[in-house]
Amino acid sequence: MGHDVSADEAIWDDACALDLKHVFHSWQAQADRHPVEVTGGHGAWLQYADGREMLDFTSQQVNVNIGYQHPKVVEGIAKQAALLCTIGPDYANLARGRAASLVVRRAPEGFNKVFFTNAGADANENAIRAARLFTGRDKILSSYRSYHGNTGAAISATGDWRRKPNDYARGHVHFFTPYLYRSEFSATTQNEECERALAHLEHVIQFEGPDTIAAILLESVPGTAGIITPPKDYFKGVREITKKYGILMITDEVMTGFGRTGFWLALDDYGYTPDIISFAKGCNSGYVPAGGVMLSDPIAHYFDGVVFPGGLTYSGHPLAMGAIVAAQEAMEEEHIVDNAYNVGHDILGPKLSALSETHPKIGEVRGKGVFWAVEMVADRASREPLDGATMKQIVAEGAKLGLVLGVHDNRIHVTPPCVITLDEASDGVERLDKALTAAGC
Ligand SMILES: Cc1ncc(COP(=O)(O)O)c(C=O)c1O
Repeated sequence: MGHDVSADEAIWDDACALDLKHVFHSWQAQADRHPVEVTGGHGAWLQYADGREMLDFTSQQVNVNIGYQHPKVVEGIAKQAALLCTIGPDYANLARGRAASLVVRRAPEGFNKVFFTNAGADANENAIRAARLFTGRDKILSSYRSYHGNTGAAISATGDWRRKPNDYARGHVHFFTPYLYRSEFSATTQNEECERALAHLEHVIQFEGPDTIAAILLESVPGTAGIITPPKDYFKGVREITKKYGILMITDEVMTGFGRTGFWLALDDYGYTPDIISFAKGCNSGYVPAGGVMLSDPIAHYFDGVVFPGGLTYSGHPLAMGAIVAAQEAMEEEHIVDNAYNVGHDILGPKLSALSETHPKIGEVRGKGVFWAVEMVADRASREPLDGATMKQIVAEGAKLGLVLGVHDNRIHVTPPCVITLDEASDGVERLDKALTAAGC
């Protein structure tokens, strides 16, 4: 069988032509695409096929925490590839065991087991599965301002627009989490926002019926939804409410985990302990796809005598595990998480905030570590979001200046690799300053 694509010989060396002809892409209509080819990278820099060196303020899907082509991670994968490229999940494997040990040591006391997945969505899928089985309850509560992945339960748990065309899973209820700049609760201070958001959550629980709710699933800093840093005491409040009603707490650290916020896990900055933690991206910076679920002891032990009805052919894939081990070791040895903290504290925080003084279309700057949102508005008084065409223009002006920018709705998400130096971060903000001016902001 098969069919004739011999015409491809003429474009065999042309990545963009092959892409346009044969590759079907995520989250977009397929016709109006203008692909860019990347041929290499190092640290926070990308090499475009046309020869341009671009400073990356995105980390791709906010996952390349360790930067491009980190030699220790490349070597870790190569060594594992030479040893054993693949082995099924049932066998013991040294890279897998070490990866699990290196990951759980970043969680609070009482987490000792990891179920490995291929990515973040299936991490949340299995976190939800474990919570439902452990509690014998069904509903999962999550935020309208969230993204949890693009599979069955994960996309129904998601709050943003991507849920709507994909919403086939049952048992999902949404509520509002704190977002002072666009408060649902008419709050004017973080304290008010925190108190009112917690009261709202408790009402939702009471109206849904506490004994129908298995878990509350929350990102420790909602990422794609706007890098909305929650008030300091919000999660402690959520934890108290969940304990009161016997509800589990699942923390989604897929985007925030392993350095992004200047902490190993973003939850470290909020001082609470959930029951389940999902992770992916930063665990090995996506050098080989991997994710997983960290289970606290009571939940892990529940499955000592009960079959866990979940599994994946590539759970704990040795190449992904080799990449986790090398990435985790390098992050520790090179103090990469401290670097992310310092870049946020010394450069991105003050310098992005200073841009508001000269760019009237900046409504709010918020974030920590290498995880910042610059929220753009048409008008500061009304806070009306800036239009999509101008947001696109900002990205285009950034690209002309050698800066890769990520935009979501009316926000610029400034999320460089955790390894970016202070000077590079400063240089990037200067380029952003110029791009905003060129776009008339
Ligand atoms: C917070 C969060 N959870 C889950 C996911 C899904 O991860 P993946 O795309 O690896 O399935 C993402 C992806 O961006 C995310 O940001």
